[in-house]
Amino acid sequence: MENLFHPKEKIYHIKWSGTYCLGINIIDDQHKKILDFAKDLLANAPKKLDEERIYFKGIIGQVVDYIKIHFATEEGIMLATRFPGYEEHKKAHEDFILTVVRSIKDYESGNRMALCNFSNYTKKWVLSHITTTDIKYIEYFKEIIIRKAAR
Ligand code: FEO
Repeated sequence: MENLFHPKEKIYHIKWSGTYCLGINIIDDQHKKILDFAKDLLANAPKKLDEERIYFKGIIGQVVDYIKIHFATEEGIMLATRFPGYEEHKKAHEDFILTVVRSIKDYESGNRMALCNFSNYTKKWVLSHITTTDIKYIEYFKEIIIRKAAR
């Protein structure tokens, strides 16, 4: 698994652009929201450690739940369209969740940098995943629509 964590890494700034739009509104909106979550998670974190821990505990579950909703949305589309790359794509989602769980444990065991790492990792992973992996089922999905329209 690719290691995108770096303990001394600074905040990774991202900007949503049309390049990342896949053309299915629900998917594009979910991607934007995940990136906003990752960005806000760090930007809104309190400076004091004890407050930060409470904040992290309160927000992290929401972020992970939302990401899982997104993955379920995509996997539903892939299954409905019999996308041949379903298993591979699902595995990429599962690997991401495992990495996130590791990051949460890391934070809970006292590594404060894990908050920054989690935010950066999520932003990088999502943008990279959109352009290399999500794009494949979108192209497949569009082909189906074009084929159906041509009948
Ligand atoms: Fe948009 Fe496959 O995650």
